Amino acid sequence: PTGRLADAFARPLRDLRISVTDRCNFRCVYCMPKEVFDSSYTFLPQSSLLSFEEITRIAAIAVSHGVEKIRLTGGEPLLRKHVETLIASLSALRTPQGKPLDLTLTTNGSLLRKKAQALRDAGLRRVTVSLDALDDAVFKRMNDVDFSVEQVLDGIEAAHEAGLGPIKVNMVVKRGWNDDQILPMARYFRNTPFVLRFIEYMDVGSSNGWRMDEVIPSAEVIRRIGAEMPLEKAAPTAVGETAERWRYRDGSGEVGVISSVTQAFCGDCNRARLSTEGKLYTCLFATGGHDLRALLRGGRSDEEIATVLAHIWRARDDRYSALRTSQTADLQRPLRKVEMSYIGG
Ligand code: GTP
Ligand code: 5AD
Ligand code: SF4
Ligand code: SF4
Repeated sequence: PTGRLADAFARPLRDLRISVTDRCNFRCVYCMPKEVFDSSYTFLPQSSLLSFEEITRIAAIAVSHGVEKIRLTGGEPLLRKHVETLIASLSALRTPQGKPLDLTLTTNGSLLRKKAQALRDAGLRRVTVSLDALDDAVFKRMNDVDFSVEQVLDGIEAAHEAGLGPIKVNMVVKRGWNDDQILPMARYFRNTPFVLRFIEYMDVGSSNGWRMDEVIPSAEVIRRIGAEMPLEKAAPTAVGETAERWRYRDGSGEVGVISSVTQAFCGDCNRARLSTEGKLYTCLFATGGHDLRALLRGGRSDEEIATVLAHIWRARDDRYSALRTSQTADLQRPLRKVEMSYIGG
């Protein structure tokens, strides 16, 4: 493989997001609503999870095809036992040019105080922490498991102390639920080393009961913040980036907005996702994935798997968000999309 792999729209493969567990200790209303993810919900059995060796093998093959960035997700990735062992193997990978990977992880922060140092020692470079409110009552309504803001802030602090950085903080905005937290969050994270990003509530999965009227368009987020703390648009730092950057005019930092609903960024999407049980998805909104675990466990060689991966990527023509934006009327049609907790954010 050469790293010159391109899909049907000439998009390269650069970013691999690996879900290491479909479980989570939160029940965020927009992701794992309690009514669906209750005690009768069947999570994946241990035997179907990819082992760390299997994950590392796929990752190495993907890196040989051009992947430069790996993000561990879930569910909550820090719930996967000994995840630092996996991080140690992944951090040893090098691109064909001999560079280390941009290795990161998305977490709800609940276990960061306990694990930040071990993660850093294993070779993790940075983390992104989800936090949807500063007000405890609002946050508890969003996570639905009575988890307090203070513990997440302490987790962020622990990650910072351990040298994980730059740290990003992601807030999903759901109208009527936490949009009163946009300004408090912006004020709080201004003048800190942490970059706050606002995410439009997406119609991912099939269980969150998504409705367009609960989406706050990023333009409105920027307007609300800008009215109090003037902002100017900043240049993107990388091709295919999810977030649009906005800088405070007084030099007190920046915020980002991720506008998957109102301003799709499929045009140069270079992301592939590997589910907990080893299916490869070429879009967050895919209805089906490609079973790589069967190849791994069927005794195929690295070369054979690399060829399969190349075929999958060359055939890729996904651009769900862009199509959704232009065909909003079709939205009511129920697709059986995979859950975010399964495929990973
Ligand atoms: P960095 O900016 O490099 O830290 O990473 P990132 O932009 O990939 O950020 P992150 O993983 O934190 O993604 C933030 C959120 O953006 C995710 O939780 C999703 O909600 C959304 N997102 C990420 N990738 C995609 C994508 O490919 N499509 C869509 N529609 N949304 C995405
Ligand atoms: N809309 C937008 N983002 C979501 N996430 C999960 N579900 C959704 C959704 N419906 C993202 C959030 C969270 C990460 C783990 O997954 O960014 O921080
Ligand atoms: Fe868990 Fe993250 Fe989903 Fe919340 S958004 S339920 S923390 S995986
Ligand atoms: Fe990429 Fe699919 Fe997201 Fe578009 S909707 S940016 S193709 S993952």
